[in-house]
Amino acid sequence: MITLHPKELSIPALQAYLVHAIAPRPVAFVSTMDKKGNVNLSPFSFFNAFSTNPPIVVFSPARSGKTNATKHTHDNILEVPEAVINVVNYEMVHQVSLSSSDYPKGVNEFEKAGFTMMDSEQVKPPRVKESPVQMECKVKDIIELGKNAGAGNLVVCEVVLLHISDSVLNEKKQIDQHKLDLVGRLGANWYVRASGDALFELIKPRGVGMGVDALPEKIRNSKVLSGNNLGQLGNAEKIPAREEVITYKNTHLKGITSEAEIHSIAKKLLDEGRVEDGWKTLLSLENQ
Ligand SMILES: Cc1cc2nc3c(=O)[nH]c(=O)nc-3n(C[C@H](O)[C@H](O)[C@H](O)COP(=O)(O)O)c2cc1C
Repeated sequence: MITLHPKELSIPALQAYLVHAIAPRPVAFVSTMDKKGNVNLSPFSFFNAFSTNPPIVVFSPARSGKTNATKHTHDNILEVPEAVINVVNYEMVHQVSLSSSDYPKGVNEFEKAGFTMMDSEQVKPPRVKESPVQMECKVKDIIELGKNAGAGNLVVCEVVLLHISDSVLNEKKQIDQHKLDLVGRLGANWYVRASGDALFELIKPRGVGMGVDALPEKIRNSKVLSGNNLGQLGNAEKIPAREEVITYKNTHLKGITSEAEIHSIAKKLLDEGRVEDGWKTLLSLENQ
């Protein structure tokens, strides 16, 4: 393991470590306008949601690591404190990347990158028609984190209107994560596509799980079960009843008494998401 002091690293080296490690990051595709009405459009992956009530999202246009110049997005927001944050899906990602080129101030990246401007209802900057979710925002605060090259500026936005394309909704008018097909940014030139095998579901604990520390010692110290498996088992509020274990054992585990084999079977069940059966398998050893 290497241990690094941020102050001893160059800005590009530190940035590279941070953006590889803090990943994937969602991408805010931000449309802003200066006081003369010139439109700007740029992506920012130092971005996230921080509050639902009020609905607050924050992104960070940083000072250039090379020239210390502020981003046009930042300058515009100081003039007109409004923005539209558009999400980025896989279909748009090459155009989004193009829009991040260092065009001179006043150049409209909607045109440069080939996107369509769509009027907003409550703010001046236009929306990106091609983006499946568009958030009209009022800027509540700008928190400057420094004056030196690489310093971020937290743009605290309140979402005042949310537009969602029918194409990404299910029959209950909720967003279908598969249909949305978002991309995320990682380190260097890496992106991730939130679709197919990259998506998986993890059932949230319903109550308060017993915890890994409460698992029987032989399970907790298993050489076969992984940390994820122990997490699955520790999520249970209570262990299956003895009678259930015996019935399961007589039906599925007849004649299997070796601990290594039982742990391997349990691991397979847990990896398939069959936590209850995994538990019964492991407990069968104690009910022989
Ligand atoms: C996917 C992606 C994410 C980016 N994220 C950030 C970011 O979080 N902060 C930042 O300052 N620049 C970020 N950039 C670079 C800016 O988009 C780029 O500097 C752009 O030219 C800024 O435009 P502006 O000066 O017109 O505001 C990102 C670029 C890409 C392609």
